[in-house]
Amino acid sequence: MSLVDLVDLQVLGDERGQLVVLEAQKNVPFDIKRVYFLMGTAPSVSRGYHAHKALQQTAICVSGQCRMLMDDGLNSEQVILNSSCKAIFIDKMIWHEMHDFTSDCVLLVLASDYYDEQDYIRNYSEFLELTKRA
Ligand code: TYD
Repeated sequence: MSLVDLVDLQVLGDERGQLVVLEAQKNVPFDIKRVYFLMGTAPSVSRGYHAHKALQQTAICVSGQCRMLMDDGLNSEQVILNSSCKAIFIDKMIWHEMHDFTSDCVLLVLASDYYDEQDYIRNYSEFLELTKRA
């Protein structure tokens, strides 16, 4: 199965403009407890560099573009996020990095739980150890 799980979001709207809906347990495969967005990231800056022990997330690039790398400890894949009508699902235990942000990039993220630093794995070697044991 591909690491990159992109879901097409239905674009609703009319002559007034477009509208995209995200709903828990429908096009977002979990109950949403937290929403945050990344913006104003300089093109030279990369972000992420972590995996989550339990958290599941869905990200939508609602403006601009960035490149996401996803790694399950065995394989890695990269995808350019540049569409506000595609959502990428980031499962637990997926190492992810975001690169090549355009200055107008806004990455909207829906998360299955509240922020908890204890849920982060920020060390890649530790991540690999944990995936071997899983
Ligand atoms: P971090 O997860 O390191 O960002 P990124 O993965 O995009 O590089 O988070 C940056 C900072 O924001 C860090 O100090 C933790 C804090 N933070 C919160 O307080 N709440 C949150 O929901 C998130 C995602 C981060």
